Amino acid sequence: MTLLELRDVDTFYGQIHILQSISINVSEGELVCLLGGNASGKSTTLKTILGIVEPRNGSVHFAGEDVTRRPTSDRVSLGMAIVPENRRVFAPMSVLENLEMGAYLRSGDVSEDIERVYELFPRLHERRKQKAGTLSGGEQQMLAMGRALMSRPRLLLMDEPSMGLAPILVERNFELIKQVNDSGVSILMVEQNANMALSIADRGYVLATGRIALADEADALLANDELKRAYLGR
Ligand SMILES: Nc1ncnc2c1ncn2[C@@H]1O[C@H](COP(=O)(O)OP(=O)(O)OP(=O)(O)O)[C@@H](O)[C@H]1O
Ligand SMILES: [Mg+2]
Repeated sequence: MTLLELRDVDTFYGQIHILQSISINVSEGELVCLLGGNASGKSTTLKTILGIVEPRNGSVHFAGEDVTRRPTSDRVSLGMAIVPENRRVFAPMSVLENLEMGAYLRSGDVSEDIERVYELFPRLHERRKQKAGTLSGGEQQMLAMGRALMSRPRLLLMDEPSMGLAPILVERNFELIKQVNDSGVSILMVEQNANMALSIADRGYVLATGRIALADEADALLANDELKRAYLGR
């Protein structure tokens, strides 16, 4: 079943036409990556999905509803969650308080959800009383993911989860993302680390100056020699 669908989306900042007729879909259970060089429109795509910017044309459907003109809070209630660029945990707050913040839009007991996050990331349990700002980069990434999971999302949007992590942590981080996906959460992940992202993804899209240049199964994109040379600028 299709969980997210962007259909012919055009997004502008003022007069500047950024996203040009973008169509993307994510099915229930899938892990999809969105690749592309700097300024290609990756973060703008996530902002359009979340309703932080509104598209001028086209539509965004999520969980069976047309959410194109609906506020971000509605989309979160329907099951979207974001792990933002640079993680942005609440530095002066403890690990536990950060997790509690992730559930602020819903009512009811959160202790079960906290336990589930601790099961997924035992390191966060060890560090539960520590201030988030003093965690290592890899631990902050776990916390940002854990916090997003507290809202019980159906779709996790991730903006460059490997950015700023030491190379040794990048691989571990992708394993954790795969683990979250295996636990039943669909994921749309923006990445510049194409090889790593494609190694765990089901499918991928490549953005080039606001257009979808390529869309294919992850294996096919990995085998595509053109990909990095032509579109990823490395
Ligand atoms: N609020 C804004 N107002 C005007 N232009 C913007 C705004 N936000 C982004 N842009 C421009 O839109 C283009 C796409 O930006 P976006 O952040 O989506 O790229 P990106 O693919 O996420 O890049 P990066 O890999 O550097 O994070 C860029 O040229 C950027 O300067
Ligand atoms: Mg970006």
